[in-house]
Amino acid sequence: MKNSEELLAQKKLQARLGGGEKRIESQHKKGKLTARERIDILLDKGTFQEIGELMTHRSKNFGLDKQKFYGDGVVTGYGKIDGRLVYVFSQDFTVLGGSLAEAHSEKICRIMDHAIQNGAPVIGLNDSGGARIQEGVVSLAAYADIFYRNTLASGVIPQISVIMGPCAGGAVYSPALTDFTLMVQNTSYMFVTGPNVVKTVTHEEVSAEELGGADTHASKSGVTHFALSNEIEAIEHIKKLLSYVPQNCEDEAPKLEYKLSDEKRTQLNQIIPTNPNQPYDMRSIIEGIVDIDSFLEVHKDYAENIVVGFSRIAGRSVGIVANQPAVLAGVLDINASKKAARFVRFCDAFNIPLLVLVDVPGFLPGTDQEWNAIITNGAKLLYAFSEATVPSITVITRKAYGGAYDVMNSKHIGADLNFSWPSAEIAVMGAKGAAEIIFKKDIKEAKDPNAKHKEMENEYARLFANPYRAASRGYIDEVIIPSDTRKRLIDGFEMLENKVLNTPKKKHGNIPL
Ligand code: HXC
Repeated sequence: MKNSEELLAQKKLQARLGGGEKRIESQHKKGKLTARERIDILLDKGTFQEIGELMTHRSKNFGLDKQKFYGDGVVTGYGKIDGRLVYVFSQDFTVLGGSLAEAHSEKICRIMDHAIQNGAPVIGLNDSGGARIQEGVVSLAAYADIFYRNTLASGVIPQISVIMGPCAGGAVYSPALTDFTLMVQNTSYMFVTGPNVVKTVTHEEVSAEELGGADTHASKSGVTHFALSNEIEAIEHIKKLLSYVPQNCEDEAPKLEYKLSDEKRTQLNQIIPTNPNQPYDMRSIIEGIVDIDSFLEVHKDYAENIVVGFSRIAGRSVGIVANQPAVLAGVLDINASKKAARFVRFCDAFNIPLLVLVDVPGFLPGTDQEWNAIITNGAKLLYAFSEATVPSITVITRKAYGGAYDVMNSKHIGADLNFSWPSAEIAVMGAKGAAEIIFKKDIKEAKDPNAKHKEMENEYARLFANPYRAASRGYIDEVIIPSDTRKRLIDGFEMLENKVLNTPKKKHGNIPL
């Protein structure tokens, strides 16, 4: 008996050492933690239960039979974060560079299957040299097994990927299929083809960091939702993110205890500038409305003309989508539409109510936008809001012009409550442009065309640049004083808490991709 226990202890010790002390040291020298150290920080103390600790590969190619490591380069299992069940896989770069092949993939697939069947989030900590070269096509199949499960799990359980080292080639497609990707600055990168191939094919010289580092993907491509300065920050960020989301699509997000008090926020009355063309920061409105310090911005540095993120109103989780007048006047363009559409679909899939704040002058004009399909991409956001069935409330703070008025969760496409501030301008287009078109003849024939144009512009603005036409039609449920907004939202979301909306039966829709 003693011997068998000793044997087990020995095997476990070996498994915990991964690729050995030297490689662990090299990992630390790069400023990176090991796979197990990451799990220790991620999960509540003492909750991790490992699955498949002693699995190994079965390959004999290129001397692999002499390089067997328990766990096959990935630590998998389940545990708790803030007392809630999660499944986790953490690739071990010290074992064959964390490369992925048959057994490694089987372990990941097993915990993904558990996660889907038991309805809990999956967190992947990625640190891998990609497909294990020695195992050849088996490695490709192994990746595809994961991609397939990522797709099955999409909309069923939240999936979070953290990139903590290399992630290249086809390996990038698992994180891309998940709901949120986090990257660590300076120690992680993602690209389909690396700097050497890029140089050969396009003659561009670019570093790995520039091509696919955290800041590049956070600001230029939008591939990552969050760029964090170190691994510990990234891990803490996962926990924060999870606090806003439910365990699965049939669950509700955690509700924090909240005691109602006087919910008037008078600072909101001072934010909208008197000059309608002057920008202001929409974040100041968000912060004025939500529970103190509860806003977690998503995709902060990408398509900054729209702001999206999670927050809480009276302890309840909400997803916020808001035009940002401080950047490009808050115009909707291709990237803003894609960013917001994806966020709306996540919230809708996971029962997180939506708050939409509108100050939008329209869609961005230009050949670049038209030739790159602002039509198809703008339609993504229209589609996402239209198909959403979660409770949603829209507040128009200032401009709501043209098609963008419809798109930004108007009542016509499904919003449950539509409020506007007295400063709102809801119209087909801005007064200047409108006057130019409909009074073209009068302006041309006037003695002083400029004066006439101004006169007609003022007339158009008086009639249409306000919320009252829309309110008289019932498109706006109520025009409210900014300081009352928070109270109206608390009451509104409470009233909508048990909303049920059944949509026509279908296999799935066909969002304009
Ligand atoms: C097998 C690998 C490996 C791989 C690294 N290693 N990548 N073993 N298959 N893909 C091993 C190394 O041999 C080494 O083993 C250890 O991991 C650490 O690697 P180093 O090169 O010493 O580390 P570093 O200098 O930090 O460089 C890391 C690296 C580099 C940039 C990731 O290893 C690299 O370029 N690897 C190959 C990347 C690649 O081309 N992968 C295939 C991509 S195609 P020892 O024993 O010395 O510790 C792909 C297709 C997926 O992934 C398709 C899915 C559809």
